[in-house]
Amino acid sequence: MDPDPDLPTKSHHRAWDKDYHYRGKLWRGVPPEIPTLPDGMIILELGCGNGKTLSAMIRRCWDIVAVDVSPKAVQMCQMMVEMEEDRCLSRVEVMVADACALPFEDETFDAVFAFHVVGHVPQHERDDMADEIWRVLKPGGKVFFKGFGRGDMRYGKGKEVEDDTFLRNGILVHYFNKEEVLEVFVDFEVEDLRIDQWETLIRGKRLPRQVVEGTFVKVSQ
Ligand SMILES: C[S@@+](CC[C@H](N)C(=O)[O-])C[C@H]1O[C@@H](n2cnc3c(N)ncnc32)[C@H](O)[C@@H]1O
Repeated sequence: MDPDPDLPTKSHHRAWDKDYHYRGKLWRGVPPEIPTLPDGMIILELGCGNGKTLSAMIRRCWDIVAVDVSPKAVQMCQMMVEMEEDRCLSRVEVMVADACALPFEDETFDAVFAFHVVGHVPQHERDDMADEIWRVLKPGGKVFFKGFGRGDMRYGKGKEVEDDTFLRNGILVHYFNKEEVLEVFVDFEVEDLRIDQWETLIRGKRLPRQVVEGTFVKVSQ
């Protein structure tokens, strides 16, 4: 039997779609803080999931395109956008696409949000993703990155399939340090790079969370 053309072909992509099908909204709670950018900017969000970050983005008057490899996540995101009463009425488009092979022309976007998506693919695809971000950004455009750090409480859970990358229920999670984020975005100029860490209380135990965050600028050579 031919594979369903609407389903992702890579196993680490299908695992996400399965998870959204079985568990529904995976990302809840307060959306993260997002940077201040002028109205009218053309913005791309990679790996939008069920729209946690997008729910904050659509309150800004940006022209937004959000992509995810999971058709189920895209469907949930589209519903969220339709139901959000406080959104700005500028363009918001949500579509299925792989961030490693983006269906957009060169130099389309003023900024790219890549929150917790670069770390969910193997190493060679992380490089592909950074190349695609470079390609679709306008000169002077920025990419906002977040990924889990090696000091996070979940580091080591699952089977290690590449250095600092663990496979758990089909989903890949890579844990970064600052040096490695610099390597991924080697073509960009660094505007900001920091480690954010805090503790979370789980069954009376204080456990560490750690995220590497960065802002990188496409400065043409
Ligand atoms: C941890 S969730 C992040 C959710 C969202 N960025 C947020 O901040 O609310 C990771 C998402 O990335 C998506 N994803 C994984 N690999 C991807 C790829 N190559 N291209 C696009 N999306 C991808 C998954 O389907 C999943 O929805």
